[in-house]
Amino acid sequence: MLHGKRILLVIGGGIAAYKSLDLIRRLQDRGAKVRAILTKAGTQFVTPLSVGSLTGDKVFQELFSLTDENEMGHIELSRDADLLVVAPATADLMAKMAHGHANDLASTALLATDKRVLVAPAMNVRMWLHPATQRNLETLRADGVAVVGPNEGGMACGEFGPGRMSEVPEIIAAIEKALAPAARPLAGHHVVVTSGPTREAIDPVRYISNHSSGKQGHAIARAAAEAGASVTLVTGPVALPDPPGVKTIHVESARDMMAAVEAALPASIAIFAAAVADWRVADIAGGKIKKGAGGPPTLAFVENPDILATISQRTTDRPRLVVGFAAETENVVDNARAKLARKGCDLIVANDVATGTGTFGGDSNTVHLVTADGVETWERQSKDAVAAALVSRIAERIAAR
Ligand code: PMT
Repeated sequence: MLHGKRILLVIGGGIAAYKSLDLIRRLQDRGAKVRAILTKAGTQFVTPLSVGSLTGDKVFQELFSLTDENEMGHIELSRDADLLVVAPATADLMAKMAHGHANDLASTALLATDKRVLVAPAMNVRMWLHPATQRNLETLRADGVAVVGPNEGGMACGEFGPGRMSEVPEIIAAIEKALAPAARPLAGHHVVVTSGPTREAIDPVRYISNHSSGKQGHAIARAAAEAGASVTLVTGPVALPDPPGVKTIHVESARDMMAAVEAALPASIAIFAAAVADWRVADIAGGKIKKGAGGPPTLAFVENPDILATISQRTTDRPRLVVGFAAETENVVDNARAKLARKGCDLIVANDVATGTGTFGGDSNTVHLVTADGVETWERQSKDAVAAALVSRIAERIAAR
C-alpha cells in the first residue's frame, strides 16, 4: 500500500537517528519514494552522505539554500509529499511544531505543509515526562498530528522508561495507517465516553479525588471520533485539551457526571473509563472547616450513584453496547468478572492500578478484556493503542449484532 507514496522524512538530532536509515530502506522495499530533511543536530548522529546514499536524492539541510529554493523551495518540498514523518522527533522539534516556529528548514517545512504529519518521539525519559513536552504532545494531537510511540525500555543515556523511538516495523505500520483511507466503522453511531476523575467537595476549599489523568478516556474518545462516530465526552477535571471533533462536557462530581451522561443519551455505545468517586461527603460544609480545639473533623460518607450500573440496567434507551472499566489493585481479572455480573454491562476493560504500575497518569496500559465468554489479555501498549484496539473490537461487536 506504500507503492508510489512520497514520504518526506525529517531526521532530528537524537541517537535514534540510526534507525531512520533502516526506515528509509524498508519504505523503499515497499515501493515508497523517500526524500529527507536532516536537521543540524541530526548531522551529529548520521551523515548527509549516508542519508543521501540511501534516498538516492539530495539531502535537504538549509532553509536559505539558493539552489534548493531555486529548484524546489521549502514549500514545495513539503507539499510534494504524501506524508511528513518526523523520526526521531526530539523534544525540541516537537516544541517548535507545537508553537509554530519556522527558524530552520525542518520546522519551516512542517509549518508550511498541508499534508498529514506523523511524529515518532525519541528522547530522554525525563524530557518525555516533563509537563512541557506532554503539553506539546497534546497540542500536536489536537492539531491532527499522528503519533507513534515512544516505547519503554533502556535508553542510551542509561535510564529506563518511556522515550525510546518506536521500532521500524511499528513506524511503518503507523505510516500505512496514516496513509490509508480512513476506515469509519462507527459512522452513524453516537458514542458517550466518560473520562478523568471526579471531585467530591468537603467544603468550598477542599475535595476528595483520585489520580486519574483522563489520558485513557480521552484516547478512547479520540479513537471513536476517528472511527467516524459522533462522540460526547463527559470528563472530570483534567489537564488535557478537549479532543478535536468531540463534544466535550466538563463536570466536577459523580452526580454531575451522572446527569451529563443521562442528558447525552440516546447513544448506541457507552464507554465508562472515568474513575468515579464511589462515595461523597454526606454534609458538605458551607464554609471552610477551621482547625480548632475539637481536633480534626470526622467525615461521614454516602454512596454516589453508580453511572455504569444505572446505564447498563436501563430499560429504555439502554445503549446497545455498554463498556465498563475495572481499576483494581489485586485479583484484577476475578474482580472484573464480578463487576461485569454485578453492574450488568457487556464488556469490562480491567487494568491494574497498584502503585508502581504507572496505569494512573502514565502513557501505557496493560488491559484484560472481560466478557461473559471469557478473558483476553492485551500486552502492555500505549493508551492510544489500547483505545484504537478497543474501538475496533467494539465496532466488530456492533456490526455482528
Ligand atoms: O485516567 P488515566 O490516568 O489515563 O487512568 C486510566 C484509568 C485507570 C482511570 C482507567 O483505565 C480506568 O480503569 N477507569 C475506571 C476507574 C474506576 O473507577 O474503576 P472502578 O473499578 O472503581 O469502577 C468500575 C466501573 O464503574 C468503571 O467503568 C467506572 O467508570 C464505573 N463507575 C464507578 C463508580 C461510580 N460511582 N460510577 C461508575 O460509573
